[in-house]
Amino acid sequence: MHVRGGEQGGMGTQDGLRALQLARLQTTVARAYAHNAHYRKAFDALGIKPEDIQTLEDLASLPFTAKADLRANYPFGFFCEPMDNIVRIHASSGTTGKPTVVGYTRQDIEIWAALVKRSIEVAGGRPGMKVHVAYGYGLFTGGLGAHYGAEALGCAVIPMSGGQTEKQVQLIMDFEPDIIMVTPSYMLTILDEFRRQNIDPRKTSLKIGIFGAEPWTDAMRTEIETAFGIDAVDIYGLSEVMGPGVASEGAAHKDGPTIWEDHFYPEIIDPVTGAVLPDGEVGELVFTSLSKQAMPIIRYRTRDLTKLLPGTLDGELAAMRRMGRIFGRSDDMMIIRGVNVFPTQIEELIFRCPALAPHFVIELTRPERMDEMKILVETRADATQDNVMQESQTILAGLVKAMIGVTAAVEVVMPGSIARSIGKVQRIRDLRK
Ligand code: DLL
Repeated sequence: MHVRGGEQGGMGTQDGLRALQLARLQTTVARAYAHNAHYRKAFDALGIKPEDIQTLEDLASLPFTAKADLRANYPFGFFCEPMDNIVRIHASSGTTGKPTVVGYTRQDIEIWAALVKRSIEVAGGRPGMKVHVAYGYGLFTGGLGAHYGAEALGCAVIPMSGGQTEKQVQLIMDFEPDIIMVTPSYMLTILDEFRRQNIDPRKTSLKIGIFGAEPWTDAMRTEIETAFGIDAVDIYGLSEVMGPGVASEGAAHKDGPTIWEDHFYPEIIDPVTGAVLPDGEVGELVFTSLSKQAMPIIRYRTRDLTKLLPGTLDGELAAMRRMGRIFGRSDDMMIIRGVNVFPTQIEELIFRCPALAPHFVIELTRPERMDEMKILVETRADATQDNVMQESQTILAGLVKAMIGVTAAVEVVMPGSIARSIGKVQRIRDLRK
């Protein structure tokens, strides 16, 4: 299968891309039905046969796949290839219960590498650059996913993985990478370490940061770009669909990740009714893989909330749609006296308080019958006077009330009080019984 280049006049045009997607969708659906008991049962229950998929709109008649379906078929029940053809297995830990397991054929790994390569290219990466990978290596798809993509582009990869923050700084200083790939929250931890060692973070060789694996805001982008003097772009992905590089942001516009639509078909649905929503409307992102062999995935409910937007990249990638920044996962949605609140909203407001640092955690309690929210947030190192901290507390509480419409307790704490992330940050501390 060609990774780039499409049929019917090329995938750079809407018609070419849609034709390519339909052909690949039909193959995917036939493969899933023929080789996987879960899909066969789910299709049969609705009386649907693979041949019924004649247009891309017909996709909406197919059943959704949820994380619970993957768990119910633990460990390998979703594989559509014999183990002889599987060359890699990853798993996502999840907070509760069994991990979700995913498998790849050699071709799947090649396509994944090609898509991460494309992601690094649109971020401004070029062959010959050095790439410091600080996403975790292991069952998590971040490290190895980034690694293979950077290698495919012809970069020299530094497979540092997450953790050992002092050493991260040392290798960035000594090996002089051009690009860093890491979660935005761990980049902040690395930033702390630069400052602790009295090294100016703007003096590194880094030019580009490719950040993802967790929600972050444009305010956080500005913080990181300013601190390091780099361009920061957003890379999106999830293990159930592939790993990093399902979508990635172009450095030219920094206007949200473009979905690599030649390999993944996106839909936005109403999370309650399951109805497909038009482009531009906010809802839950759903993906169908178009080329995966080992584990084709049909209408996977990501629980990520965003919208689809028109494409802005050039050439062959022009017809591919973007997604807005993920502002939250339905799992992370807090309901405070009837108002839905996401940690990214709190992050944005913290950045509006010049004396506050972007290190925070949200504690949820239920003293009576209603949930209550307390934001613990650090003051900046140069703002530790009592009156300054007191003032920040009042300002942030006021902003939360005015902008989100909920009452939150705010406690401004000293620098270093909040546990640092070495991978995906946990913003919510749930103390409800
Ligand atoms: O986090 C894959 C990845 C690795 C993506 C490195 C980007 C960089 P999972 O561990 O399966 O896979 O977690 C997937 O993380 O459903 C989102 O909720 C969240 N997520 C991933 N990228 C972004 C992003 C990897 N750019 C889950 N913005 C997804 C917001 C993201 N959330």
